[in-house]
Amino acid sequence: MSIEFKRHRRLRQSANMRALVRENYLHIEDLIYPIFVAEGENIKKEISSMPGIYNFSLDRLGEEMDEVQSLGIKSVLLFGLPLEKDECGTQAFHDHGIVQEGIRFIKKNYPDMVVIADTCLCEYTSHGHCGVVEEGKVLNDESLELLVKTAVSQAEAGADIIAPSNMMDGFVAAIRKGLDEAGFLETPIMSYGVKYSSAFYGPFREAADSTPQFGDRKAYQMDPANRLEALREAESDVAEGADFLIVKPGLPYLDIVRDMKNTIKLPIVIYNVSGEYSMVKAAAQNGWIDEEKIVMEMLVGMKRAGADLIMTYFAKDAAKMLREQ
Ligand code: PBG
Repeated sequence: MSIEFKRHRRLRQSANMRALVRENYLHIEDLIYPIFVAEGENIKKEISSMPGIYNFSLDRLGEEMDEVQSLGIKSVLLFGLPLEKDECGTQAFHDHGIVQEGIRFIKKNYPDMVVIADTCLCEYTSHGHCGVVEEGKVLNDESLELLVKTAVSQAEAGADIIAPSNMMDGFVAAIRKGLDEAGFLETPIMSYGVKYSSAFYGPFREAADSTPQFGDRKAYQMDPANRLEALREAESDVAEGADFLIVKPGLPYLDIVRDMKNTIKLPIVIYNVSGEYSMVKAAAQNGWIDEEKIVMEMLVGMKRAGADLIMTYFAKDAAKMLREQ
């Protein structure tokens, strides 16, 4: 037999040989854990479509944070769930709103934890949209003013990073200006600039009670069919002064993550969203897949696609697995 071919299997023959040529790793430092803080008392309520993920009231948030910290996770992403919602989402920028108090609690008790505040109005508005609504339309510039107030109040509460997820045009520029004027020159912006209009957010909207009461988010979030549009969005975020760029959702958009990694010189963050989490959990509960292996394969796949950081509801599980390895 004298056919010529390349023996790729040489590099796969043992665990140690495979380790020598492994190109990508998942590290605990890559993980950002999303947390839902709810107004009220003695709340630890599991989200039915997201097994293992809870809404916590402030008095019980310590239980979750102790675990997060002891696992070695270094960063959390905070969402607030207010008791009262209104047309303009005023609880989003209230000095003592639930997310502001959540930030204060974490920074006081876990001072080294990097606290990222999700800056949006949809959890706080009665209509569930991410901005000010008039005649069924989400107004861009009017919404920016409220988003700036929200970002500044979160920075005042001690947020280490502001993560605006509303997809209004110019939100990075407006928030950067607002933060600077309020003296927060050192507070970075992690922009959800590449955010698609996605059915994968379904379980989150149950968790955050933020389903739009009419219509959908297609007039501000991006069309899943588009690729160049993501580059346009990302370029304006860079120009406006973003410090990180988020691509969201994760799994169906790994091509976009790679595009961003190749063209945008910012740390690239992927948001492995609620629907991606729920699908894995549901299949695992049915015994159809090996959850641990699937989770690790998914997360390292995101690293390979070009993500520097991963926002994921699997952060605690992944941290445990990384420890055991
Ligand atoms: C707020 C926001 C959403 C998510 C993060 N920030 C919901 C949305 O845009 O509808 C979704 C996160 C997830 O699905 O895990 N705008």
